[in-house]
Amino acid sequence: MQEKKTSESRITMIIQMTQLDANLAGNVHGGVIMKHIDTTAGIVASRHAISNVVTASIDRLDFHSPVYVGDLLRLHANLNYAGTTSMEVGVRIEAENFITGEVRHTASAYLTLVALDEHGKPNKIPQLVLETEDDVRRNREAAIRREVRLKERLREKTENRKNEGA
Ligand SMILES: CC(C)(COP(=O)(O)OP(=O)(O)OC[C@H]1O[C@@H](n2cnc3c(N)ncnc32)[C@H](O)[C@@H]1OP(=O)(O)O)[C@@H](O)C(=O)NCCC(=O)NCCS
Repeated sequence: MQEKKTSESRITMIIQMTQLDANLAGNVHGGVIMKHIDTTAGIVASRHAISNVVTASIDRLDFHSPVYVGDLLRLHANLNYAGTTSMEVGVRIEAENFITGEVRHTASAYLTLVALDEHGKPNKIPQLVLETEDDVRRNREAAIRREVRLKERLREKTENRKNEGA
């Protein structure tokens, strides 16, 4: 099985927020930021999987501070965990006011993306090679989140089956 290092997929995207991204008061819409999170995570996952990927789920997302028109949105994205066909990508989002130099932590998000083959079916991905202590910590924490997601998915499936049978 092919292997790939975390540094081979990690990226930082920087995008300047404009009036098109915001409400009349100049606050950037949460949905605009969510789209950039999804896009950034998709690039990381595609670079690792070397295939098409889709977003299967996004964990809870809290916005800690506002983003304004003119700010530079910085999205640092890292592959935390690689399963058989799915990957967890962590994205840290910061807003930089390039006039004052102030940088605010806007949000952190964890996304699960699944690699697809040419028939649109989940496809095997390379194993992840952890390079740093941070990689090891992120991988350990991601494995715990994955267990929680799997349990939740199983619980939902069982519940749906019960409701369909009722
Ligand atoms: C994601 C998708 C491909 C999963 O298909 P599936 O037939 O349920 O796949 P499986 O049950 O074989 O699971 C494949 C992998 O995805 C993971 N997975 C599936 N659904 C998941 C979810 N909701 N959250 C987290 N992981 C999920 C599984 O744990 C498994 O991981 P592993 O191979 O690393 O162990 C399918 O549900 C899909 O196409 N969804 C739509 C995705 C999409 O279009 N997103 C864009 C927005 S609409």
